[in-house]
Amino acid sequence: MKIRLFNKIAAVGLGRLGEGFETAEDAAQYDGVLVRSANLFEESFPASLKGIARAGAGVNNIPIDRCTDAGICVFNTPGANANAVRELAVCALLLAARDVAGGIEWAKTLSGDPDAAKKVEKGKSAFAGREISGKTLGIFGLGAIGSLLANAALALGMDVIGCDPWLGVPGALRLDPRVKMTADKDEIFKLSDFISVHVPSTPENRGMINAAAIALMKDGAAVLNLARADLINEEDVLAALEAGKLSRYVTDFPTAGVIGKKGVVAIPHLGASTEEAEDNCAVMAADQLRDFLNCGNVKNSVNFPALSLPLGEGERIAFLARGEAAAAGEILEGAYSSASARRGELFYAIAQVKSASEARAALSEAPGVIRVFTF
Ligand code: MLT
Repeated sequence: MKIRLFNKIAAVGLGRLGEGFETAEDAAQYDGVLVRSANLFEESFPASLKGIARAGAGVNNIPIDRCTDAGICVFNTPGANANAVRELAVCALLLAARDVAGGIEWAKTLSGDPDAAKKVEKGKSAFAGREISGKTLGIFGLGAIGSLLANAALALGMDVIGCDPWLGVPGALRLDPRVKMTADKDEIFKLSDFISVHVPSTPENRGMINAAAIALMKDGAAVLNLARADLINEEDVLAALEAGKLSRYVTDFPTAGVIGKKGVVAIPHLGASTEEAEDNCAVMAADQLRDFLNCGNVKNSVNFPALSLPLGEGERIAFLARGEAAAAGEILEGAYSSASARRGELFYAIAQVKSASEARAALSEAPGVIRVFTF
């Protein structure tokens, strides 16, 4: 099977694909894709493509709806780079509180100056900052990254207030009980000295840090963005930095519009760029893609339901359908073993059947069936 690589993927991950797989950076026909941040919206996929695995958490570079319509399973790697992003978020907090970035730039201007040491002591007051201990950090999104950051900020002496309407029991168990939770977004804006966003780029989250939100914030609050550029209304943030309402905007997703602007600390998307995170993401992405292409098992997909079935007697088949998919019942009833799951209107099933080609023929013409996979 051919896996097309749209980005550099850590070797340890590629090694997990194992026998029967080959990778290519350029190929017209391929069965799977491994991708990091390359934008796939403009790609026209071959009919042979069955699965795309993103080595990372965000999937806003992948046309999910188009993939679902074509029966292409899309995976991400939740949590695999969370520690790396948490560590950079702590760094971002400190860069927001202390003008380390401005100070470093200024210090470079003293290179070779015999009076540098004296000038450092004289000029340093221009870069003085504040401490984060005793201040309040507001966090939107307490998933793998947000919850790690919350716990780290508490350890650094901060008060932490969090908002996450999707927080489930496992997420809540990861959180230090001292994190104050609120269902009211405005409370985060009003109470926080530092606000960090850790939510996906969805239509409801885009532009969430805007003029209305900023108006509620404390004077001198700072915004941290290690999630996605479009969560922020950049024009509004720049205006607030210019007016002194916001003290700093630290972003790991800098755009031409914000780089070099007053109060902006621009990091070139380094959140997940550590050896450890790149290895973790590559391994998780490759494992998930391999298991899907080899036997239809689905783990950490953002469009298919999670499902797995042990290998067993007979031949293996899997299919994705929309709605009731009447033909599915007959196939599954006659199978040696089967498993099925729903996700919204999608129905996905894996079955060990007597004849995969007969099952494929029966399903291929059936109403509602999007795609049949044989192995
Ligand atoms: C993510 O979505 O997890 C990061 O953007 C991953 C990356 O930096 O490639």
